[in-house]
Amino acid sequence: MKLKLENLSCSFGGSLILEDINLSVKEQEFISILGPSGCGKSTLLNILSGVLKADSGRVLVEGEEVKGISGRFAYMPQQDLLMPWKTILDNVTLYGAIHHDKKRAKIEALKNFEKFGLEGYENRYPRELSGGMRQRAAFLRTALCGADIMLLDEPFGALDVINKGKMQDWLKGLRKELNRTTILVSHDINEAIYLSDRILILTGSPANFKKEFIISDKERNRKWLTEQGKLYNEIYHYLEEDELIN
Ligand SMILES: Nc1ncnc2c1ncn2[C@@H]1O[C@H](COP(=O)(O)OP(=O)(O)OP(=O)(O)O)[C@@H](O)[C@H]1O
Ligand SMILES: [Mg+2]
Repeated sequence: MKLKLENLSCSFGGSLILEDINLSVKEQEFISILGPSGCGKSTLLNILSGVLKADSGRVLVEGEEVKGISGRFAYMPQQDLLMPWKTILDNVTLYGAIHHDKKRAKIEALKNFEKFGLEGYENRYPRELSGGMRQRAAFLRTALCGADIMLLDEPFGALDVINKGKMQDWLKGLRKELNRTTILVSHDINEAIYLSDRILILTGSPANFKKEFIISDKERNRKWLTEQGKLYNEIYHYLEEDELIN
């Protein structure tokens, strides 16, 4: 198993947010987590990335327990976190810089600026970009980071529908090219259906995984997505019911 979470629990100021989270993710599997606002999705990714410490439980990567910031995860947090004093190119290659291979990181990054709609902005600063452009830069930075488990927290939330579609297609293509295992947090049911092998519903207070949807179709395109109405409704009603209960 690529990644295993065992009995993870987390609380803030005495109130329990996540309780007894268990999850196994296979090599190259793409998982999406859907759940109501405030249920603990970002908290879970923060624990995995090592930014936050769980009260109890374990995180295992390839059978080995990881603690703190391990370098095993490429994390795109919910806020873009670009460094305002660095250019877009320097921001995007930040991990390359950390890993002392800035030159190669820059060559690799520059290949992608056009695809990401960032061409011409290589030497600009984050404040000169729109919110959507900053989000694409943060996504590019995460995708370029060498770690083989990607944690993406609503990576396309600030994008218009066309750019969102482009980034989703790029992410879908990335799976074939690179040996990546991905956990995506999203509020977009269609996005989750389009990209995932498995969709997990995180609900309840304290939250844990209450339901799982497996999507086994390998060949997917936008037309395929329009045909998934039944699954969409099933997921929608599941989330809606939870909202009513809580
Ligand atoms: N550092 C913190 N200190 C105290 N409480 C926190 C902290 N981080 C998160 N919380 C609380 O934990 C709960 C879960 O927050 P979290 O950000 O994980 O939710 P989420 O599922 O990602 O929501 P959204 O979909 O809105 O992003 C919320 O009630 C939030 O107020
Ligand atoms: Mg969140």
